[in-house]
Formats: sequence, C-alpha cells, structure tokens
Amino acid sequence: MASVLVTRILPGGALERLQADHEVTVWQGKLPPAPAELRAAVGDVEGLLCLLTDRVDRDLLEAAPRLRAIANYAVGTDNIDLALTAERGIPVGVTPDVLTEATADLAFALLLAAGRRLFEAAADARDGRWRTWEPAGWLGADVHGAALGIVGYGRIGRALARRAEGFGMTIRSTADTPLVELLAASDFVSLHCPLTPATRHLIDARALRRMRPNAILVNTARGGVVDQAALNDALHRGVIAGAAIDVTDPEPPPPGDAVYSAPNLIVTPHIGSATRTARARMTELSVENLLAGLAGRPMPHPAS
Ligand code: DGY
Repeated sequence: MASVLVTRILPGGALERLQADHEVTVWQGKLPPAPAELRAAVGDVEGLLCLLTDRVDRDLLEAAPRLRAIANYAVGTDNIDLALTAERGIPVGVTPDVLTEATADLAFALLLAAGRRLFEAAADARDGRWRTWEPAGWLGADVHGAALGIVGYGRIGRALARRAEGFGMTIRSTADTPLVELLAASDFVSLHCPLTPATRHLIDARALRRMRPNAILVNTARGGVVDQAALNDALHRGVIAGAAIDVTDPEPPPPGDAVYSAPNLIVTPHIGSATRTARARMTELSVENLLAGLAGRPMPHPAS
C-alpha cells in the first residue's frame, strides 16, 4: 500500500479504485495547493495525481524523495519538468484521447462565437440594446466556406478539421503548410500545439502582423503559445479582427488585467475538456496510470 496525494477533488468515481489499493489523501481546497503547501504535502508521498495547476519542478521533486509515479490530470505536460522526472526514473502518465472531442467542440464553439459576435449580440439583447431588426447590426464573418489554419495537427487539431469539413471550410495545417503561409492564408487560425520552449510565444507581434486583418485567432492550447501583450495590442490596433482564448498566461489573469479590456476578445476559463464525460474519463485514465506506475508496470498512457 503506497501513500498517494491527489491534488484536487476530481469528478467521477474512479478515485475509489485508487483508495481500494492505496492510502490516498485528497487535497480538499477549492484552490490548488500553493507551491510551498504542495512541497509540504509530498514528504512521504510515493504516488502523485496532480493537475496542470501544480508545478512539478526540481523543488517539488527534492521535497518528495519517495515519489515513484506521477499521473497528470491533463494531456499537456508543460507543468512537469519531464527531463528531471526521467532523470529520477519517475514515470509520468497523461490523459490523451478522452478530451479530444470535447476540446475540439470548444475550439469550434469559440470560432463560431467570435466569428458571429455571439457574446456581444447576446449581451446587447439581454441588456436592452436590441431595439429593432438591424440590417447592418451585429455583422460578423462567414464561417461556412472560410479558410481555417490549424497550428498543431495532433489529435485535437485533426478533430477540429473534421468539424470544419462539415462547414465547407478550406483547411490548412502546419502539417502541410509552413506557419507563415498558413497565417497569411487563413480567416480563422486555431492553435493546437503543446507549450514547449519552441512554441512559447509562437504567435507574437510578428506572427500577428502576418495574419489577415479580418482574421480571428482561437487558442484552446496553452496561454504561453501566444504573446498576450502582442495580442492585446493587435486587437486594439485592428491588426486582426478578433480572438477567442480559453487559455491565458498566467491563469487566471490577475483582476483588471489588460486581457479583459482588449476589444473583440472572448476569454473563457480553460474549459476545453470541461464536459462531465471527459473529466470523469480523465480521472479514470489518471487512476489507471498511477495504479500501473505504483505496481511497477508500464503506464497505459505515458507522457511522450
Ligand atoms: C489538458 O489536458 O492539457 C487540458 O488543457 C485540460 O484538460
């Protein structure tokens, strides 16, 4: 029986399987443990089920000398120093596939919402600004038949492409088109790459200038892929027409952050995988990974 820390209360019933075999402590806070709290909590821990809000870095690993398996409740691993975990021989598991469709749904929802100015129009209706049928009111972009550029053509990028096909969109991805060409040729650009040193600020001021003035940027990947200050500036100057972002850097942005006053910008609170099914399946995969890792078996869904 190993000592396990789960850093948040998780949806679905799968934690019971972990509790049947191991001594499990679940962090009860509504907010994630602060780094110092997490370090204090992992002293005897052998298995860690953590979230993208937990940094697994050198300080944490030094505070957890008995740690021998990590399950990340996410498909992304930018919160974990994978080089260090590999050096220490600690396997890391992730939750692929089960959130692909949910995240692609959200990306397409944001694309539609930004293109058709959905939130602005709904707020105007609710707040009494809908006075008549307006021939030139709330005009948005055509989504059907538009050109979509997908940056990162993994599971979620491909799932977005399947949705876009149904809308008759012309689809390019960075699997077949260089980024600079894709940016210049797209009415909508949707980001689906992991955050790595190579993709940090991939969409910077220069990249934004390459985009069309009518273009809309959608980000459901990681906030750090976009230089947020450059995006705010581009929106203020009309370099691009709009953006819809489910991820920011940091998360959440501090109250009063400039991101909240940028024009034509929709911000949602990192809800790509937030469906009941996807989140419960993420718990299941995390538990499967941790049970295998603690038993010395290969994890079924290892981080790559
Ligand atoms: C992930 O899994 O990496 C998402 O961002 C959260 O579901």
